Amino acid sequence: MTVEYKVQDGVALITLDNPPVNGLGHATRLGVVAGVARAADDDSVRAIVITGAGKAFSGGADIREFNTPKAAQEPSLHTVIRIVEASAKPVVAALHSVAMGGGLELAMGCHYRVTAPGTQIALPEVKLGLLPGAGGTQRLPRAIGLEPALNMIVSGDTVMSDALADSGLFDEVIDGDLLAGAIAFAQRAAESGKRPLLRERKVAHENAEGFLQFARNTVAAMAKNFPAPVKCVDAVQAAVQKRFDDGIQYERSLFIELMYTPQSRALRHAFLGERAAAKIPDVPEDTPVCKVERVAVIGAGTMGGGIAMNFLNAGIPVTILETKQEALDRGVATIRKNYENSAKKGKLTQEKVEERMARLTPTLSYDDIRDADLVIEAVFEEMGVKESVFKRLDEVVKPGAILASNTSTLDVDRIASFTKRPQDVVGMHFFSPANVMKLLEVVRGAKTSKDVLATVMRIAKKIRKTAVVSGVCDGFIGNRMIEQYGRQAGFLLDEGALPEQVDKAIEKFGFAMGPFRMGDLAGNDIGWAIRKRRAVERPDMTYSKTGDVLCELGHFGQKTGAGWYDYKAGDRKAYPSQAVNEMIEQHSRDLGIKRRKISDEEIVERLVYALVNEGAKILEEGIASKASDVDMVYLTGYGFPLFVGGPMLYADTVGLHNVLQAVRRYSKGYRGEAWQPAPLIERLAEQGKGFND
Ligand code: 3HC
Ligand code: NAI
Repeated sequence: MTVEYKVQDGVALITLDNPPVNGLGHATRLGVVAGVARAADDDSVRAIVITGAGKAFSGGADIREFNTPKAAQEPSLHTVIRIVEASAKPVVAALHSVAMGGGLELAMGCHYRVTAPGTQIALPEVKLGLLPGAGGTQRLPRAIGLEPALNMIVSGDTVMSDALADSGLFDEVIDGDLLAGAIAFAQRAAESGKRPLLRERKVAHENAEGFLQFARNTVAAMAKNFPAPVKCVDAVQAAVQKRFDDGIQYERSLFIELMYTPQSRALRHAFLGERAAAKIPDVPEDTPVCKVERVAVIGAGTMGGGIAMNFLNAGIPVTILETKQEALDRGVATIRKNYENSAKKGKLTQEKVEERMARLTPTLSYDDIRDADLVIEAVFEEMGVKESVFKRLDEVVKPGAILASNTSTLDVDRIASFTKRPQDVVGMHFFSPANVMKLLEVVRGAKTSKDVLATVMRIAKKIRKTAVVSGVCDGFIGNRMIEQYGRQAGFLLDEGALPEQVDKAIEKFGFAMGPFRMGDLAGNDIGWAIRKRRAVERPDMTYSKTGDVLCELGHFGQKTGAGWYDYKAGDRKAYPSQAVNEMIEQHSRDLGIKRRKISDEEIVERLVYALVNEGAKILEEGIASKASDVDMVYLTGYGFPLFVGGPMLYADTVGLHNVLQAVRRYSKGYRGEAWQPAPLIERLAEQGKGFND
């Protein structure tokens, strides 16, 4: 049963009970309709209260049912709301905790609404690439006025019920026992005999047309790759200009149109993918987790400082350890400077800055980190340095503490082997800047225990990271894939493209930044150092040498004022460099390659399919446990366009058969390991399936 029914003091109580958030799936919709019918037939019932069990009134339509036949099965949410509106006995919605999307729409179809304080109210459909499709765009403007309603619908943002107390949405805010208050309210409503409906109200605004035009322009500029926000404005405009029922019909048609857009599919994939990433197939949800109340960070450089800030922000004390006082002072000063900058921008009060800094203890002594529950190492990327640090940690830190490494390229199993407690060792691969970037790759060593993994996933949520589990391999999920992408970018230069064309093509596809602008930002010397190391480990590896030539010229990127592009002092804009372009052309001649005109389409295909093919190999090897994990890595760590949904979803959208054809085509005469088709793609393409099926 996903809906409970009982009668109390002459009031029928219909309680949505569909965990986790009372999504209005088919069975729940049926339950509400049955409850209203039962109440109608029962002479002892004078009014109805609809509420939700557990942690929500309702989180809206059941997202898990989207694109399944059940979503379209009657009674639709529209039908449910029509039945509620038509009830001869007054219906009161009693809101608490969360009332969102279809949940709020159902409440707005009721004759009255009462709420507990602190209820999160939202029409967040736009965040899923949709618009409220069960009357929300028509009823909310009638309830609270055009401007605040449009703001809520277009942003999808949550507003607390307290802020809406006098907005016209609620008939009463009940501080105390919500159910008792709602029942008393319903009894009074039955007494009054009134059954007011939001559909009967007019939309309030003095200059609706001017406001809507202004809103349309603003929204169109802000949401250029997403169709939903503008459609939200269209639908709200209908609330002003059309009859209620026509407005509802119009809203419905826009909702269905949006449901089938690739952008909505991508956003829904990302929403579910983020939650799915937190679930590790062989680690049960009730795996015991350890308390993490004290954190230690080893190394106060670029990464160590940013990593520490995450915990300080979340209220967790951090001890940061360095080898030399100077490095320690520099690291602490950088953390303070970052906070001060936030304060200057008005994002943080000075009081908060001091509060956070007070949680930070700098030290040069391992004695001060003995009691840490979690230690994160972020020292130089050299196995020898990692070895000495982990051996020392093993000696000093209390048993049961988690020992994590932020290594980006080294073997986590090897690092674990430096300790006598490999079960407590895990990779926590943060991305730079570590206090800003959402992604955290949690690298599961061969011996990492399940409770360590569960604890790290829990703590990741606390510091607001999107944590994705990766197995141990060179580069883990993200960097292993980007390696193939980067190599293709290099080959494209050798064959005839220039950095600007490659960057522009992939940025037009939607990437935040192309590979060459990105290299200049991060520092081309980082990749150069990795390539030198790899050249020793894997002399057979093929890659374009233009990047090496560039670094030999000292073009490390923005920090040296020159990289793939030229830079002017105090200006981050990339200007095409004639000297570099000539170097690239010379390099082609040296290789005996006749440069050709390369289309933007080929550039995008080669870069993105190189990611996809490697992603498929990563899945097949079990380095990532699901395709959506790979996509979450790319959406949150690599600037992959959210409106596309990640490389693996993109491949599904194009069709794996087509991806395979292209990979096979490139396997003939094009350089790079990227073009050995992943057996997983071959299998799925043959079965007519996608990665996400
Ligand atoms: N349907 C089904 N399941 C949902 C859901 C929904 N609408 N909303 C959340 N869930 C699930 C999540 O998938 C997650 O499941 P899991 O435990 O198996 O991973 C669980 O509820 C808890 O979700 P969160 O981790 O996000 O929990 P929080 O407590 O942090 O947040 C929330 C709860 C505020 C409800 C948040 O989940 C949220 O914002 N949900 C999306 C709400 C939404 O977009 N609703 C609109 C749906 S579209 C619609 O209603 C169409 C209509 O207009 C016709
Ligand atoms: P960094 O050079 O900025 O900082 C390293 C710090 O460690 C220095 O301050 C140094 O004094 C300190 N240190 C060195 N040996 C130490 C020891 N034995 N004990 C204590 N402190 C010691 O380097 P960065 O960039 O912060 O990198 C650190 C780690 O993070 C590396 O493993 C790197 O691969 C990884 N990483 C780096 C990313 C980046 O973008 N910079 C991204 C993700 C991971």
